Amino acid sequence: MHRCLTVLLIVAFFESHLSVEAVNAPPGQTLGQPWPMPQSYQSYPDLLLLNSATFNLSPVGHSCDILQDAIRRYRLIIFGPSNALKFRPKSNVNVLANLDVNLMNECEKYPSLEMKENYTLTVTSSTANLASPTIWGILRGLETFSQLVYRGNYGEFLLNATKIVDFPRFSHRGVLLDTSRHYLSKEVIKENIEAMAYNKMNVFHWHIVDDQSFPYQSRKYPKLSDEGAYNRFTHIYTQNDVAEIIEFARVRGIRVIPEYDTPGHSQSWGKGQKGLLTECYSQGKPNGNFGPINPIVNTTYTFLEGFFSEVQQVFPDKYTHMGGDEVSFDCWKSNPDITKFMQQHGFPGNYSRLEQYYEQRLLNIMAKLNAGYIIWQEVVDNGVKVRPDTVVHVWKGGWQQDIAKVTALGHRALLSTCWYLDYISYGTDWTSYYNCEPLNWQGSAAQKKLVMGGEAALWGEFVDTSNVVSRLWPRASAVAEKLWSSSAMSDATSATPRFKEHRCRMVGRGIRAEPQNGPGYCVKEFN
Ligand SMILES: *[C@@H]1O[C@H](CO)[C@@H](O)[C@H](O)[C@H]1NC(C)=O
Ligand SMILES: *[C@@H]1O[C@H](CO)[C@@H](O)[C@H](O)[C@H]1NC(C)=O
Ligand SMILES: *[C@@H]1O[C@H](CO)[C@@H](O)[C@H](O)[C@H]1NC(C)=O
Ligand SMILES: *[C@@H]1O[C@H](CO)[C@@H](O)[C@H](O)[C@H]1NC(C)=O
Repeated sequence: MHRCLTVLLIVAFFESHLSVEAVNAPPGQTLGQPWPMPQSYQSYPDLLLLNSATFNLSPVGHSCDILQDAIRRYRLIIFGPSNALKFRPKSNVNVLANLDVNLMNECEKYPSLEMKENYTLTVTSSTANLASPTIWGILRGLETFSQLVYRGNYGEFLLNATKIVDFPRFSHRGVLLDTSRHYLSKEVIKENIEAMAYNKMNVFHWHIVDDQSFPYQSRKYPKLSDEGAYNRFTHIYTQNDVAEIIEFARVRGIRVIPEYDTPGHSQSWGKGQKGLLTECYSQGKPNGNFGPINPIVNTTYTFLEGFFSEVQQVFPDKYTHMGGDEVSFDCWKSNPDITKFMQQHGFPGNYSRLEQYYEQRLLNIMAKLNAGYIIWQEVVDNGVKVRPDTVVHVWKGGWQQDIAKVTALGHRALLSTCWYLDYISYGTDWTSYYNCEPLNWQGSAAQKKLVMGGEAALWGEFVDTSNVVSRLWPRASAVAEKLWSSSAMSDATSATPRFKEHRCRMVGRGIRAEPQNGPGYCVKEFN
């Protein structure tokens, strides 16, 4: 992952050079400033030096596997793999010996919607302290600490005295990746999860299957991927792959929420589960095509219950994304059995009611499994009444009205409309993501409280392993700051120097984040 580190040059520097001096950043870039911006951030002109050979990240409170792993990781992120730097500071230079890492309570095992991510980070001219009530706050604080450290003119590691009090503005800060339109390798998924941690994003929304392919290898229903994956051997995620990705995310405080989109977007399911999809008719006969999931037969719900009880066991997060978008009624309209069913149930011709019938039975199954559920906004747009605890994901144009409506109905909401990163154009575009204020619409304070956050969505039609990282980063970093930082962070122009530094920081850590701001350079380029 850290390609950069393997080629880290050991910069020899000498005692005589070790007076601390102003460092030149590339034009238009900050030095040692964090992204996303903390809620409260003060930095001071006092410079401290870190000795890479002896500097310690020292747990002084509780500890656990996640903390031990994070300390190992952040040592490497901050200093690289080599500890061989000769270090003989002059007497007038303040050397910071360690960062006290004070986890005030025992670790929680898995990140969740309810997790707290607060932390405080205080670096004086002689001490540094990171404190948080939760392991998740410690992870965010370690990330911030790592961002404050920068290289001096002689390769030395520098840090300014700093005082930070920080917590996220929104609790759900996600990235959607789509592994159905194109398969994404396990390694590239992990690379993105790593980049998410560098941006304090905390939900990997895994749009794992769709019409085009079904790469999830089910324990109970292996035929789904045998028949529905692009290739049953090479283009699948085995149970081990899924577990590995969940663990990789967990230790970074990132939730993995899979999306199994139904009743539309489910063509690939039909190949391995006969009778699941609606048969479409022409001139009174099945025409060989299939539409959305067949909502009128009980075998559908038996299957869904079996499948989603597995999903609940495999994915530790309480929430599953249930999709529900873009359901075409045409095939349902053509099918005489469905027409008859609707007559019998007293809603002839009302396909929204049929969709409602499906969604209600589906979400009742999820409730029975004690799962949380997120759906795309169309379900509500179509007048479908869903359980009040359903989270509604807004993605369409006119989102201000839509999110006002959804929250007026009492639903919690997520926003993605402004952050469809699969739409690309010439030039800088992160600023438009940055200019979208998720609470800028007409509604009561109680309604606004129902907005849990949002997600940058990178749909996979034109994205695969070859370009997913560079298309996503650093553009998703703009979304990360909108969702973490105070609403006062709304001026893209003044954020630009920090954005550029952050992009270079990711590049320096081996993430192939694209140059979003036109000509320029990074001190450490990608290699
Ligand atoms: C860090 O300290 C240096 C030297 O005093 C100063 O020039 C610089 O502006 C400081 N940086 C920040 C982010 O405060
Ligand atoms: C954490 O941040 C929230 C704001 O989101 C604040 O209300 C709360 O007091 C903070 N808790 C701690 C322990 O700092
Ligand atoms: C299908 O399930 C529903 C709800 O549980 C039940 O009322 C109905 O009798 C079942 N239909 C058949 C054909 O078994
Ligand atoms: C169809 O059902 C929906 C949901 O119950 C309802 O809002 C709508 O008014 C119905 N449409 C018609 C034409 O009856």
